[in-house]
Amino acid sequence: MTLSAPSIRSRKRRAGKQPLVMVTAYDEPGARYADAAGVDIILVGDSLANVMLGHTDTMHVTVEEMCHHVRAVAAARPRAHIVADMPWLSYHVDLADSVRNAGALIRAGAQSVKLEGGRVRRDVVRALLDAEIPVMGHLGLTPQSVLAFGGFKVQAKTREAAEWLIKDATVLQDEGVYAIVIEGVPSVVGTRVTEALEIPTIGIGAGPDTDGQVLVFHDLLGMTSRPPAKFVRQYADLGSLITEAIGRYAEDVRSGAFPDASEAYDNPEGLLN
Ligand code: KIV
Repeated sequence: MTLSAPSIRSRKRRAGKQPLVMVTAYDEPGARYADAAGVDIILVGDSLANVMLGHTDTMHVTVEEMCHHVRAVAAARPRAHIVADMPWLSYHVDLADSVRNAGALIRAGAQSVKLEGGRVRRDVVRALLDAEIPVMGHLGLTPQSVLAFGGFKVQAKTREAAEWLIKDATVLQDEGVYAIVIEGVPSVVGTRVTEALEIPTIGIGAGPDTDGQVLVFHDLLGMTSRPPAKFVRQYADLGSLITEAIGRYAEDVRSGAFPDASEAYDNPEGLLN
């Protein structure tokens, strides 16, 4: 039975619930591996832009590209909940456009959508919920704001900014989002915002006290070209394993060791002789 947005909404650690586990995936194998590992939520993140398409920020993916990858993830039919990022400019122009874009992600196979920003997103959150689309929020170091922030910088570092973020979180909660990602803030802000909310927080670089954690697939598996951020724990070095395996294949082709007789089809009696 797929995990629903309402069932995720009740996953507060202080109510004795287990922390939520979220990981990104962008295709069928990634979703299959993540689901087999028992994660709760698969995020088809707009980090697609960075880790799959080679861009330096997340502002270069479109709704169409996101839908293409949501369809691939949904093809794995995971038990985990599938949430899709609304890409930059897909919810900033007008409300009807935003609902249509979220609807496209749902029709591609997502069960909810995630968008970045606090009180400025009030109307769009309400419009999506009116269209029966569950919404996850995202506050703190929101990557779609990289140009406005002047770089990927830890957010909420002053009392005023921390209080602003906590207020944004309560506004989103009051509008009806079912969970909020908190990214790139001092741990005490992760703790305080989690305490202030009735809905779960899912942290990435927000310390140990949030109601769940999220990591990017390629970061956690060691498949990125740049050194990982401070908050990443790398659980495998698949990048090196992949290069090493392909290197051995190349060596075998060049030396004639691949393929051997066991890797070739039998010759029917009398064929071509
Ligand atoms: O796109 C993404 O991968 C994200 C996570 C960093 C939360 O939004």
